[in-house]
Amino acid sequence: MKVFINKRIPEAGIQMLKEAGLEVFIPEHENLSHEEWLIYCQNNDAVLSVGGEFKYDQDFFDQCPNIKTIALYSVGFDHVDMKEANRRHIPIGNTPDVLSKATSDVAFLLMQSVARRASYNFQKVKDGNWGDFDPLHALGQELYGKTLGVLGLGRIGFEMAKKSQKAFDMKIIYHNRHQNEEAEKELNATYVSFDELIAQSDVLSVHANFTPEQKDLFNGPVFEKMKSNAIFINTARGGFQNEKELYEALVSKQIWGAGLDVTNPEPMSKNSPLLELSNVCVLPHIGSATIEARTGMAQIAAGNIIAFSKGEKLPYCANPEVYQN
Ligand code: DGY
Repeated sequence: MKVFINKRIPEAGIQMLKEAGLEVFIPEHENLSHEEWLIYCQNNDAVLSVGGEFKYDQDFFDQCPNIKTIALYSVGFDHVDMKEANRRHIPIGNTPDVLSKATSDVAFLLMQSVARRASYNFQKVKDGNWGDFDPLHALGQELYGKTLGVLGLGRIGFEMAKKSQKAFDMKIIYHNRHQNEEAEKELNATYVSFDELIAQSDVLSVHANFTPEQKDLFNGPVFEKMKSNAIFINTARGGFQNEKELYEALVSKQIWGAGLDVTNPEPMSKNSPLLELSNVCVLPHIGSATIEARTGMAQIAAGNIIAFSKGEKLPYCANPEVYQN
């Protein structure tokens, strides 16, 4: 079986594929155009897909009928049309669990960075503006005993909630499609409606899977209903926030600050007005960027393809319904 990997991943995954006797194709240069990517896909049986820029939609599946499975090098699968994949019986692998700690670390980092205006203060030092001790300038806020609201209390949200509770004794509320009994038991988390979540959270952290219906879920009217001391954190997908309205909410002090590891679009333009604000911290989508997580992701993605090549079910399958019938 021939496997196309659109960008080099940690060697552990590549070795696994080779040792399993699979032919691996990695392009010489990494910034493939859409056409180049499509040609590689047309010449292989499986894709180990890195990044979210290439869409696996109806048009892709029509043009690449040879593709039998796709192993995503991500937990998110919002760039795949799952209905089409299911219709064509194509299993889609993803990489959950192994990046939950690393990604929740980034949410936790952003929460603290915004609460204490760390990136703004760091920039001041870099600009030679350390300044005199000022009892009133750029004060942060403490997180002790505050309420963390989690949208999407799955594996990553759970890790974020656990850390926030241990470090700052934060009360946990959450909104999900389904109640999370483990979190209710272990973290004393309380299930609330979306409206209660936005009204009660001191920190609101987004960890849900993104679907097109959720585009701009965090918009002007929603920010208006949030607390004036609220910090908005997003490490899931940038599509959740309307960035123009987020900017307005921050400037008009409807909310207190924002920490984003994901933006819309990515990369964020260096001219984004959000980058001018002292109460904003933006990172370039580094949630899973640790040696441990990225190596684990490579092993899981390779394991998914190897399982497929042996006629087995993908151990980490984002569309398990593909195996029904
Ligand atoms: C994921 O795994 O979904 C990360 O956001 C990287 O895309």
